[in-house]
Amino acid sequence: MAQDNYLRMMQQELSPELLCSIANKYGTPLYVYSADKITAQFRNLQTAFSNSNTRFFYASKALTNINILKHILNIGCSIDCSSVNEAHLALHAGFKPENILYTSNGIDFKEIEEAVGLGININIDSLSNLEKFGKKYGHSYPVGIRLRPNIMAGGNLKISTGHSNSKFGIPIEQLNEILDLVQQHHIFIRGLHIHTGSEIKDVSVFMKVAEVFFELVPHFPELEFLDLGGGFKVAYKERDHETDIILLGSEIEKFLINLENKHQRKFQCWFEPGKYLVSESGYLITKVNVLKTSQNTVFAGVDTGLNHLIRPMMYDAYHRITNISNLKGETKTYTITGNICETDTFGTDRHLLEVHEGDLLAIYNAGAYGFEMSSNYNSRYKPAEVLVLEGKVSLIRKRDEFTDLLRNQITVL
Ligand code: LLP
Repeated sequence: MAQDNYLRMMQQELSPELLCSIANKYGTPLYVYSADKITAQFRNLQTAFSNSNTRFFYASKALTNINILKHILNIGCSIDCSSVNEAHLALHAGFKPENILYTSNGIDFKEIEEAVGLGININIDSLSNLEKFGKKYGHSYPVGIRLRPNIMAGGNLKISTGHSNSKFGIPIEQLNEILDLVQQHHIFIRGLHIHTGSEIKDVSVFMKVAEVFFELVPHFPELEFLDLGGGFKVAYKERDHETDIILLGSEIEKFLINLENKHQRKFQCWFEPGKYLVSESGYLITKVNVLKTSQNTVFAGVDTGLNHLIRPMMYDAYHRITNISNLKGETKTYTITGNICETDTFGTDRHLLEVHEGDLLAIYNAGAYGFEMSSNYNSRYKPAEVLVLEGKVSLIRKRDEFTDLLRNQITVL
């Protein structure tokens, strides 16, 4: 199954020849996104959940280029935001307020007031903000509550959010406090939200969350949606497991039927996929600046670094890397390192078709949390971004230039 998914993913990839020609035109380092891959992923979700009442909100924190947001809108997906600025971007892209969800964490109440002003859906994640919300809005504005279920899940502790030491959500053991506030201020609780983490490969984790919801539903008579967050895993390498969304779709269908039978009310499930929609759509193309040989290692030093793709250094994430300039011949072993003045490794002891200085490498699965987490560290420019949509190649962000490094600085000396 995992192997099949991987092959399917490879068949939908942009070809090395196309990636090279785009990089030759726009220079490197360069992010390239396939809009068609995003569409394909969304259609997979729609198919997998076609028998259940489910809505998808793209977790825009993964990638917010305005063209990506517009594409997400055009294919009919809703949008999830993690800051009120992302909500403004979503509105700017053309999303209607009712299709925007703001799942907040640790924010000033002012941001919630601003979100109410925008008329968007909101999930509140602390008792303190729930109380302020109740006092100010009472029953007038429907809202969701983000809960922490004390479930450990996710690809890495740094991207696990549902466990008992996590800052995210209101701990489930504080249910009585939640209910007191809801009752006291007559708050209109329209939804419950639980996101346990990113890269959740086991469907059983989502179903554990569903069980938690099952128990909670009777406490909230006005509930309409149950939001299971994002976190669907995609394949980063061969034999990697993806979340089995077909299985999840059928389990969610059964869950909603059981829930309806038990409570004689209809509910909708919401999901907030980020990586699933955009990870595989993105490529970071980089040029090999130097080859350096030491004892047992050949370093391929490239013209990008952790400032452009932080995932390998931050989460020990594996990103597949290939030489797209040389498609045949001998395979050799390289350690691919960035140009940032820190330990900055993209891949250790990788087998690549022989690399020469000047060759272009493609780093895969770079669509989610790639450009979005990039910075100007070492005063390097952020890369340009290119979108490929139905064969049409468009520049969607210019590469930084020197003035960008000084933008917003105020010279006082
Ligand atoms: N919903 C909520 C409330 C979230 O916190 C997140 C991710 C998502 C949805 C989307 O999760 P996804 O489907 O993308 O796994 N920078 C890290 C990932 C951080 C995820 C933060 N929250 C990485 O590159 O792995």
